[in-house]
Amino acid sequence: MDQASLPPHVLIFPLPLQGPVNSMFKLAELLCLSGLHVTFLLTKHTHGRLFRDTTTACHLDRYPGFRLETIPDGLPADHPRSGDQVMEILDSLKSTSKPLFKDVLITGRPVTCVIADGFLGFTLDVAKEMGIPVIYSRTLSACCLWIFYCLPKLIEAGEVPFQVRSVPGMEPFLRRRDLPSFCRSGNLSNPFIQICMMESEETPRAYGLIINTFEELEGSVLSNIRTLCPNLYTIGPLHAHLKTKLRTGPKAPPSTPSNSLWQEDRSCMAWLDAQVSKSVIYVSFGSLTVLSSEQLMEIWNGLVNSETRFLWVIRPDLVAGCQKWGNQVPAEKGYIVSWAPQEEVLSHPSMGGFLTHSGWNSTLESVYEGVPMICCPTYADQQVNSRFVEEVWKVGLDMKDCYDQQTVEKTVRDLMEVRKDEFASSAEKMAKLAKEAVSEGGSSNHNLVRLIKDIEAMDS
Ligand code: UDX
Repeated sequence: MDQASLPPHVLIFPLPLQGPVNSMFKLAELLCLSGLHVTFLLTKHTHGRLFRDTTTACHLDRYPGFRLETIPDGLPADHPRSGDQVMEILDSLKSTSKPLFKDVLITGRPVTCVIADGFLGFTLDVAKEMGIPVIYSRTLSACCLWIFYCLPKLIEAGEVPFQVRSVPGMEPFLRRRDLPSFCRSGNLSNPFIQICMMESEETPRAYGLIINTFEELEGSVLSNIRTLCPNLYTIGPLHAHLKTKLRTGPKAPPSTPSNSLWQEDRSCMAWLDAQVSKSVIYVSFGSLTVLSSEQLMEIWNGLVNSETRFLWVIRPDLVAGCQKWGNQVPAEKGYIVSWAPQEEVLSHPSMGGFLTHSGWNSTLESVYEGVPMICCPTYADQQVNSRFVEEVWKVGLDMKDCYDQQTVEKTVRDLMEVRKDEFASSAEKMAKLAKEAVSEGGSSNHNLVRLIKDIEAMDS
């Protein structure tokens, strides 16, 4: 086939972290299903972890227009790349990968459009130089993104780091402690504050911005973001959008793919099968959070005292120097795994609640399945997401900064017993809206169709 008759070719470059890689893979599949060609750029380290088994590779084989490329992240092989080292990954990528990214664009099939994470601002300079449009993608909530964009004004007005009065649209409910965690430091040279300040200037330079959210969830915040960046594509929840497309399309696979950087322990599914409907609380702190052993003990005791059955994900690196938790749980009370098939877990009939760190992917997955949440935010956007869960969407309780065992026990009882019906009803309503958004003709589906048309027009 000659170049002119080939479909448009999109290069996707996610942040090399579990959440962003997972949701950008879903976007890549959605684009492939619409007939576009996609090159997915991973760091060598992430590629190695993702493809240590063959299941991930297998489901991508189904798309003839899909290709993987790798690029080094510039960090030594033994660098942990977790917890609070995220900034080191970003710095290293910026200094090492910029020239290599240019090589990727030069070699192989010409690229119609780059979709890169908004934190990878250097991609825009390189692509613009070559006349290639860039659409930024953000895998965190619009509510947090809007705060990032407002940071320069908040700092100018002296509201950060000292107080917060006026994030437009959030005045009635946003407290100082609901700001992204790095605003608490009192240090304006904090690298996260710096990168967010830069981002608010960078974003309008891109052709558009993809956000993994949906209009019905974050409509009012999205109107504010549109004042800065009018061309928004809200196409989420991405995992659900893909699931819906695969279910209804001609290429329906037997199950939805796993993009996990950890080996999933599926034995928990049989344990869940043996539990009563809506009786189990699922506990997970995502892929990066590190807890102190004191924090873990408080949550542990609170959970056990609440007498609620639980399924808990304890990653080997969740608590430094402590990997043996699984042995201490009486089998009838709870079950522990080091990594779970989370989407499947949340859709299981035994799910009654999710005690979560409020990472954005976990929040969206829970919203979509109608599972009420208890939020234990630890850093970054999680402080904002958890406030919206309780105050705006009313689909859970925010336990921010209070992880003592009495509070944990009371909050679990409130969610799972005392206010069970109230939360079940509001979570179901929100889940219905999420399902409509990703169905044919829904808001996110409409925006995906528009995104694909816009990419096709770039090629003509
Ligand atoms: C990070 C930040 O922590 C978060 O604040 C930000 O919103 C996104 O980047 P992470 O800690 O990985 O994310 O949390 P989250 O965004 O919730 O993503 C975790 C992903 O891993 C989810 O898609 C979840 O389904 C998956 N997961 C988690 C599993 O598949 N199994 C598990 O056992 C735990």
